[in-house]
Amino acid sequence: MALKLRKLSYALGAEVCDVDVAKPMSEARFGEIYQAFLSYGILLFRNQDITREQHIEFSRRFGELDRHDALPRDRHPDYPEILLVTNEPKPDGSPSDSRYTGRQWHSDMSFTPVPSLGSLLRGITVPEVGGDTVFANMYLAYETLSGGMKKMIAGLHGVHRSGTRKINNPESGVPRAEEQRRLNPPIAQPVVRVHPETGRKALYLGDKVKRFDGMTEEESRPLIDYLNKHATRFEFIYRHQWRSNDIVVWDNRCTMHLALGDFDETQRRHMERTTVLGTPSGYVVADA
Ligand code: SIN
Repeated sequence: MALKLRKLSYALGAEVCDVDVAKPMSEARFGEIYQAFLSYGILLFRNQDITREQHIEFSRRFGELDRHDALPRDRHPDYPEILLVTNEPKPDGSPSDSRYTGRQWHSDMSFTPVPSLGSLLRGITVPEVGGDTVFANMYLAYETLSGGMKKMIAGLHGVHRSGTRKINNPESGVPRAEEQRRLNPPIAQPVVRVHPETGRKALYLGDKVKRFDGMTEEESRPLIDYLNKHATRFEFIYRHQWRSNDIVVWDNRCTMHLALGDFDETQRRHMERTTVLGTPSGYVVADA
């Protein structure tokens, strides 16, 4: 039987219907899912009441998994392949380190020399309302730029820094900012990336980019702001309203995303992510 897909928005995303990711799956069936992943950028699987082992096992079909050495505070203590995105306090009652994860437009691990191919996020406990994730189609963002703009940005590299949301948040603090700087020096990534599998060009930017390599922040800011604003136009996005046991898989090479903080923080939002390693990209720059 052919894979049953339902489009999620005009710009990107499809729900894969009637698939249980924990059940044995033939190569042919996974091949269809992978083709849909390349075509739609985001896939949604509903009602996946699975274990961590099953989450990891299914994720491995997409490629080798990151063990999250770049984000050691947020990985699960017993499952390094799982990154926690949670506002559940720590066992000692102190606030979770990952409660603000993803609250900026970004593509996962862009601040490392091996940015991610894709991520699989499982919604476990979700707030009654809000806490949505918004995704942007970065192929469309690139393709709808003028020829002049495409020429102007062709050779540019954006300097990506890790932990910018947390660094800018006095509450979650300076020690974390320093740790992030030590673990993840700034990396320059091409502003236009060619997707290694589809061959299509995509914009590669977001709020972790503070300047272009070879330019000051002041010089870079207007163009970064313009491109991010353009990329996140309503026409280019899909906003996902989570249900518990949803798994959303996204292609980090042609999408970016943002976790909205639009929910009652007294309610729990507990998500777990696996991150599929991509191919090496970018170069380290001095943090000037
Ligand atoms: C992430 O950026 O990986 C987390 C997104 C989310 O929690 O919605």
